[in-house]
Amino acid sequence: MNSRVNVQAFLDKDSETFSYVVWDASSLKAIVIDPVLDFDYKSGRTSTTSAEAILAFIKSHCLSLVWILETHAHADHLSAAPFLKAATQAKIGIGKHITQVQESFKAVFNLEKEFLPNGEQFDHLFEDGEILKLGELSIKAMHMPGHTPADMVYLVNDECAFIGDTLFQPDVGTARCDFPGGSAKTLFQSIQKLLSLPLQTKLYVCHDYPTAGRGHEYETTVALQREANIHVRDGVAEQEFVLRRETRDKSLSMPRLILPAIQINIRAGKLPPAESNGQVYLKIPLNML
Ligand SMILES: [Fe+2]
Repeated sequence: MNSRVNVQAFLDKDSETFSYVVWDASSLKAIVIDPVLDFDYKSGRTSTTSAEAILAFIKSHCLSLVWILETHAHADHLSAAPFLKAATQAKIGIGKHITQVQESFKAVFNLEKEFLPNGEQFDHLFEDGEILKLGELSIKAMHMPGHTPADMVYLVNDECAFIGDTLFQPDVGTARCDFPGGSAKTLFQSIQKLLSLPLQTKLYVCHDYPTAGRGHEYETTVALQREANIHVRDGVAEQEFVLRRETRDKSLSMPRLILPAIQINIRAGKLPPAESNGQVYLKIPLNML
C-alpha cells in the first residue's frame, strides 16, 4: 500500500536545521515540526523569511495547519512557531517535561516572576505515548530524553518518525548531552527505544552536519542507524557510548545561538516582555556557562 504520509523538508542553512511539513492527503490537514525564525545575532534582528517559505508551501498545497510541534527547546535556532500560529491559528505543542527545562533556565536568566515554568506558554504539553489524530494519520508523541530532559519524537502512522536531536545521520552520530538535565545514559536508553521500531521505519533528523563528500540529508532509517551509526550501532554497549559521548561533549563549545535561542524557545517562541521604553531585550549571563 502506498504511504499516506506526505513530507516536505525545509533546510535552514544557517543553523543546519530541518523543519518539516507533514500532511494527510485525504483531509489536507497538516503539522509543522521545528520551524525556524531567522536571527541575525550581530544586529539583534529577527525575520520570517524561512517561515514564510513554509507558509507559502502550506497555502500552495491548500493545507490546513493544525499543529506546530517542537521536538524540544532548541539551543541552536529560534522557533518561528508564533509566526505560523498567528497566520493559521494552529496550536503549539511540546513534551510535558519542558517545564523542567523552563525551570532550569528561568534560574539561569533570572527571568521575570510572571514567567511561570509550568508550560502555559504552549497550547499543549504531550504525555509520553499520547496519540494525535491528523485526518487519517495517527501521530504518537514519544518522550525521548537525554539530549535534554524534554525531547520528543513524533511517530507518524508507525511509518516514519521525526526524531529531533536523538540521532543524527549515521556518519554524524548523536546529539550532545551536556545541557542542563541532559544525560548520555538516558539518551542511550531513549535511542534503544527508537531503534526497536521496525527496521524500515523512516527517521527524519532535525539537523545534519555533513561529513566531507556529501550534502545535507534529512532522511535515514532504523536499519541504517543500527548498521552504521558511529556512536550507537548494534553492538555498542551503554557504558562505551556514555564514555564516548561525555568525552566528546567536554570538547564542544557552546552553540552560537544558545543564549538567544533558549530565552525565546522556552517561551514557545515568543519574545520576552518589552521593558519600560517599549524595547525587547535578551540577556547574556556573564561568566556563567
Ligand atoms: Fe537540540
